[in-house]
Amino acid sequence: MAQGANEFAGCRALVTGAAGGIGSALVAALNSAGAKVAAADRDTAAIDAAVRLSGDLCDPDYCDGLAAAAHDALGGLDLVVNNAGIISRGPVTETTDSDLARSLAVNVEAPFRVCRAAIPLMAGAGGGCIVNVASCWGLRPGPDHALYCSTKAALASLTQCMGRDHAHQGVRVNAVCPNEVDTPMLRSGFATRGFDPATAVEALGETVPLGRIASPDDIVDVILFLASDAARYLCGSLVEVNGGKPVA
Ligand SMILES: NC(=O)c1ccc[n+]([C@@H]2O[C@H](COP(=O)([O-])OP(=O)(O)OC[C@H]3O[C@@H](n4cnc5c(N)ncnc54)[C@H](O)[C@@H]3O)[C@@H](O)[C@H]2O)c1
Repeated sequence: MAQGANEFAGCRALVTGAAGGIGSALVAALNSAGAKVAAADRDTAAIDAAVRLSGDLCDPDYCDGLAAAAHDALGGLDLVVNNAGIISRGPVTETTDSDLARSLAVNVEAPFRVCRAAIPLMAGAGGGCIVNVASCWGLRPGPDHALYCSTKAALASLTQCMGRDHAHQGVRVNAVCPNEVDTPMLRSGFATRGFDPATAVEALGETVPLGRIASPDDIVDVILFLASDAARYLCGSLVEVNGGKPVA
């Protein structure tokens, strides 16, 4: 779906994980649809966005301040996309304290803190929209990803709770739940395990009923739909975007 040139004109958006695979495609799509974007990531220097907010989502003060920083720099805040995430592989017995702390911090605590700060700002201005990037693997257990699945499950539950609790304030909170997407997160995982990423992505595509894994734009289009007026009656929804492939 190509976005209309002005479909998001006037929309002031905060995107976390803006330098990553899905995040950079989302920032580009929002820019071309007329939005003003505050891009948050560890290093935002190379991102084409109206505002760049570099920092570490493991830092609670940075997370607590992101929504206000975006709001002040953009003159308001209509959309927040909590897109940043990290993946930790292996069963619980192979998970370190540091894996646990980082996954909880980035996948759960950061979106919690950003939403907690963003919702009153949005509600005070008559409403807004939050899209969290969870995962199919947080809705059903995938093998050997205990921490990733359980932190994404927490984000999915948080989305449902916030969607319910803040609908009356005009704040819609939903989540997109992809299966495999062709991004650095996926490719670096293959490389770490000694596979050629290009060959592995091709082989993985054959396991998907639609014949290929998702591109970042396949996910971005659904995020933009959830952010658009066409999704005005969606609140607390977990939208699976999986090419027909169930979790293994
Ligand atoms: N790629 C997939 O197969 C897939 C599938 C389902 C869900 N997702 C989710 O999609 C989202 C985007 O993932 P992606 O595939 O684009 O990954 P990616 O690794 O390309 O991008 C993630 C971004 O988050 C940023 N980030 C991570 N930790 C951070 C921290 N502590 N502070 C600041 N920024 C930090 C990274 O710098 C990176 O730019 C994630 O939440 C991921 O869990 C991805």
